[in-house]
Amino acid sequence: MLSVDAIKSFLKNDSLNVMVFDELDSTNSEAKRKAKQDFSAPFLILADSQTNGRGRLGRSFYSPSATGIYLSYVYVPDGEIASVVAVTSAAAVAVSRAIESVTSKSAKIKWVNDIYIDGKKVCGILCEAVTTGASSVVIVGIGINVSTVYFPNELSEKAGSLSSGDINRNRLAAEVVNQLEAVIEGLSTRDFINDYKERSLVLGKQVTYIKNGEETVAEAVDIDRDGGLIVTLSDGSINTLNSGEISLKI
Ligand code: BTN
Repeated sequence: MLSVDAIKSFLKNDSLNVMVFDELDSTNSEAKRKAKQDFSAPFLILADSQTNGRGRLGRSFYSPSATGIYLSYVYVPDGEIASVVAVTSAAAVAVSRAIESVTSKSAKIKWVNDIYIDGKKVCGILCEAVTTGASSVVIVGIGINVSTVYFPNELSEKAGSLSSGDINRNRLAAEVVNQLEAVIEGLSTRDFINDYKERSLVLGKQVTYIKNGEETVAEAVDIDRDGGLIVTLSDGSINTLNSGEISLKI
């Protein structure tokens, strides 16, 4: 069972405001509502299940009860706006480190921020920003399939889970937040980028990306300091892809 006390017992930041719900439409949506009511950040929202879990590019995120972690960490960014862009990739590194510290599995990242274990997607991340009046907050939404066995048909080929059930979700959720707070703290240094590149499933590979409905084949050659994917096209030109509108196949 997810519980505030159990999560807090593993958290490094013991002043973090943690809220746990049995069911929400979406922890990111609840975080947005709270941010709009001037709820003071940082805070953390978790739900045991979501009825309308949201993913990138308008997709949904399958969020059954008891077998996953669905959380939104909300914080006030300091200064540099590019750092907010970089938080998406930083979060993927943080979750990978947390998964590796709690399980013995090695976590890889498919650009932008899908986390793969043994060839299956086990985690998705959706970062959003909310501005109310003069202040802005960033919402880092993270969904991890911890022990989900059955996925809907359309996901069953691609989606996987961390294990069949022996992982303490309170500990893993807290470790995700511990790692996330550490990368956010050092975000302006971009120290996480090397780790991101080492975990990348796409660097050095031929990728196909879809932008505005148009498919392009390119080679993924590097990640820039904001997490953009640098690709070379067959005519030798170089492009940097930013996450917003891109769907990537490898
Ligand atoms: C993706 O794979 O496209 C991103 C999925 C992000 C899912 C998480 S679950 C917690 C948070 N609340 C949401 O509605 N979405 C994110």
